[in-house]
Amino acid sequence: MNNIETRKNIAALSLSLIILGVAFTSCSEDVGVTPPEEELFTYALPEGFPEIVEPEDNQATEAKVELGRHLFYDKHLSRNLSIACASCHLQEHAFSDPNRVSVGVDDRIGTRNAPSLANVGYNRSLLWEGGVKTLEQQAIVPIIHPDEMDMQTDTLVDRLRGISPYLALFKAAWGDDDITIERITKSLAAFERTIISGETPFDKWKRGNETALSKSALRGERIFFTERGDCFHCHGAFNFTDNIFHNNGLSETEDEGRFRITQYNLDKGKFKTPTLRNIEVTAPYMHDGRLQSLEEVIDHYNNGGDGHSNSDPLIRPLNLTEEEQLDLLNFLKSLTDEEFLTRKDLSDPWQ
Ligand code: HEC
Ligand code: HEC
Repeated sequence: MNNIETRKNIAALSLSLIILGVAFTSCSEDVGVTPPEEELFTYALPEGFPEIVEPEDNQATEAKVELGRHLFYDKHLSRNLSIACASCHLQEHAFSDPNRVSVGVDDRIGTRNAPSLANVGYNRSLLWEGGVKTLEQQAIVPIIHPDEMDMQTDTLVDRLRGISPYLALFKAAWGDDDITIERITKSLAAFERTIISGETPFDKWKRGNETALSKSALRGERIFFTERGDCFHCHGAFNFTDNIFHNNGLSETEDEGRFRITQYNLDKGKFKTPTLRNIEVTAPYMHDGRLQSLEEVIDHYNNGGDGHSNSDPLIRPLNLTEEEQLDLLNFLKSLTDEEFLTRKDLSDPWQ
């Protein structure tokens, strides 16, 4: 089985696991329990950001988010104790991975670059081809994936039962110290929804601080948000993504992207538009990390892409001058939220 098939099978397996899990627990106390008002988590939303929509059966509380943060940073989640979620989603890189493609247990090499988790709670679908709908469902995928954490869920539950801080954390979050895979994935998802980033020079400029952007970045802003660069058609709205799938002109590889889900020919080579928030610190770029720098990305778009039969009509030679390319680069660099990259409430709680 090649890597892509393995991934496909794992995705299917994890979905059926989830369905089983939901069926199994639908009579359990965790489903549909609304925590008392005073315990609900209050999201610190930047101005202009929409509300975070939580699943009805997983409303966040401070304690659940805290448990999720401990799990996110815990290498006990991987078979040989070598990696945590945070090993591939690093805070200083806006929760993305500086490796071109991910490296799992026993140095197993994956096929894709780990995307930033900044504002992941707003994504309408997850993974580069959008095959998973909720963070609760997604969380199981890296845990059981052989090229990522390669962990058995029952082994994980047994292992965590032996780690004493978890007894208190689970009790605080869920009312008793019973550890289940459903509680683990729900807590991880609750933490992930708090990974919110929206305090950038660009946001400050939007809110009226006229000196927050340099003259060059301002000219870049005009290229980005007009037909000159046409970036905004796909990377629009508050999170710089339309949340749908396009081919942005990258040449073909065996990764067929959205086609894996729809089996529709026109979806071959289409991937979910990623957010551009914190893009300066999330290199390398694209679903397979093939581009090393923002200069290379700008070159790619300026050349009208490498040619792909499903390339979006918006991808065409832009003929940007050297100065315009630099302006666009400076605009992209104005999307870095420095505070977010070291914020304590998102950092490793075990340290
Ligand atoms: C070995 C590296 C690795 C580990 C460990 C890892 N991830 Fe990822 N993560 C990735 C890669 C690669 C992708 C993109 C996969 C794809 O699209 O097929 C990804 C994608 C995601 C996404 C989808 C984001 C989006 O916007 O589509 C979420 C959410 C996520 N990971 C959360 C987690 C959580 C939670 C954990 C721990 C339980 C975790 N990851 C562990 C590499 C990793
Ligand atoms: C037709 C829609 C579309 C247009 C127009 C577009 N993009 Fe993209 N962009 C995408 C998609 C889809 C991806 C992910 C492609 C992939 O990985 O295969 C992407 C990826 C990127 C990335 C890499 C992000 C990451 O996390 O790896 C950057 C940076 C980027 N685009 C910047 C721009 C800029 C600057 C412009 C304007 C010059 C632009 N884009 C125009 C759809 C678009």
